Amino acid sequence: MNITNIKSFVEFYKFLGITDCISQVQRNKMKLKVDPKTNIQEIKKNKKNEKKIKSKLISINNLKSLILDLDCNLKDVATNLVLYDGNYDANIMFIGEAPGANEDINGKPFVGEAGKLLDKMLSFINLSRNNIYITNMVFWRPPGNRTPNEKEISVCLPYTKKHIKIIKPKLLVFVGSIAAKNLLDSKEGITKIRGKKHIYEDKENDLKIEARAIFHPAYLMRNPIEKKTMWDDLLEIDEFINSNNILQDE
Ligand code: URA
Repeated sequence: MNITNIKSFVEFYKFLGITDCISQVQRNKMKLKVDPKTNIQEIKKNKKNEKKIKSKLISINNLKSLILDLDCNLKDVATNLVLYDGNYDANIMFIGEAPGANEDINGKPFVGEAGKLLDKMLSFINLSRNNIYITNMVFWRPPGNRTPNEKEISVCLPYTKKHIKIIKPKLLVFVGSIAAKNLLDSKEGITKIRGKKHIYEDKENDLKIEARAIFHPAYLMRNPIEKKTMWDDLLEIDEFINSNNILQDE
């Protein structure tokens, strides 16, 4: 029964001569269920979390201002800065390569064909933009979707490191070889880097974060035979997430 007006409902029962309510649960038992200590702890925890989220948002906005002032040649030819999408309180952070045409128009990473494929694959392990944070190594679209060059990557790299420090995820997932090589400081290609457990290290900020690398979805679109390998990598990521209990409720 859906009671929208409790007052008239009580009046109606009074009208019928019913003045007592007999519940199967005793009143004192109902009261006992609410532990005031737990409640206060819960409120404190929520307040702390609210503070943390607010401070992250401020830091991301400050980072955005710094990036907008960067001296990067891509800035002059791109339509929009592409900084992030997803949940900035997430424990899992994905880092791709550079925005493409759709991302440039929308100002959000991974919203084109490759992004749709990534979203679909992530949904198989219960990940979505509600429980991950996603960004790129380079913040503007390289003309014609070419691979960003060394100079463009090195201009953006310190800001991606700052970005990681702000989000402070418990798991980093590098999407494709540009992110994997540069953030793991490796000379190896993605075929060698993927499928292994890595630690991202930022000595300057005393950060060590579990990291994995996966094929870029654009590569999978050209080489669908590698989808099985991607599936294996996603299963390993899923196992890490579950065994460390790092997926927040949506
Ligand atoms: N490829 C990327 O690496 N990033 C995007 O945002 C889109 C395509």
